[in-house]
Amino acid sequence: MEPVIYFKGDFRPEHEAIISVRSRGLNYGLGCFAGIRGYRSDDGSQLNLFRLDRHVRRLEAGAHILCLRLPGTVEEVSNIIIELLRRNGVRDDVYVRPIVFANSNELSPLLDPDTSETAIFCMPLGRYLSSEPIDVGVSSWRRVRENALPARAKATGGYLNSALARREAIDHGYTEAILLTEDGHVSEGSAEHVFIVRDGQLISPPSTEDNLDGITRQSLITLATEDLHIPFVERSIGRTELYVADEMFLCGTGAEITPVRSVDRRPIGGGRVGPVTRRLAAHFEAVVRGRVASRKDWLTPVWPEQGQ
Ligand SMILES: Cc1ncc(COP(=O)(O)O)c(C=O)c1O
Repeated sequence: MEPVIYFKGDFRPEHEAIISVRSRGLNYGLGCFAGIRGYRSDDGSQLNLFRLDRHVRRLEAGAHILCLRLPGTVEEVSNIIIELLRRNGVRDDVYVRPIVFANSNELSPLLDPDTSETAIFCMPLGRYLSSEPIDVGVSSWRRVRENALPARAKATGGYLNSALARREAIDHGYTEAILLTEDGHVSEGSAEHVFIVRDGQLISPPSTEDNLDGITRQSLITLATEDLHIPFVERSIGRTELYVADEMFLCGTGAEITPVRSVDRRPIGGGRVGPVTRRLAAHFEAVVRGRVASRKDWLTPVWPEQGQ
């Protein structure tokens, strides 16, 4: 079956969802997007979107920053996403990508709500990074500053910064890059946030370190502190503090929780997955699969529940 895409205000077969090569969105990277995961429940009867409302609200905030416009309210866009998954008959783990972009074919780079276009597509997605602990390298590219290109907006053009860092990391034999801010603090990975553990305490840099206002990151902070009683502190991290961390992991919608084995070839925690990472990852998996009653309000079911 040909995938169904939401584009130009309607659901269409994929071959009809096309833009001009002249589009400003393509030529200048003028847009912002979201990435949302849906998880199949253990018995396979349901597909649950993880923190749908948060993701759509962040997309709306990104569009607001970039003077672009969503095709409806947060609730309306959420319902479009649910309807898209139903029309595609999705019941297995899925990734949903809504993108809002400037779709004028004029030459100049201009952000203009009246030429905003929204497309939403979905695809099956297993692990984004390896399920094994990964080797990362600190990038020679710096994270682009808030006042140059706001990470908060999750802007399409900003991913050139991520892609340069990732290219370099892969060329150097790493799986992923860690970007520092212009001031030399740890910012984030190319599409993941950074957590370290030192002396049993979880540490992660704030979003003022030029990283995205992360939904997985915030969720993990809540799960760690409220459910697992793991102490957490939000503060700047220097480059070499990564080298001496007891544990380190990356997180994000794509990456979920990905343990780090080494940074710049220095092994972290003996190169094994540490106890805090392991506990948090197990709890996160239980939450997204709908096994934790107190966190069910983080999940939006795609299919009508039985009896409804
Ligand atoms: C640059 C960047 N940092 C971090 C993340 C993780 O954020 P979230 O947990 O909200 O998906 C993403 C998105 O996946 C990202 O693109």
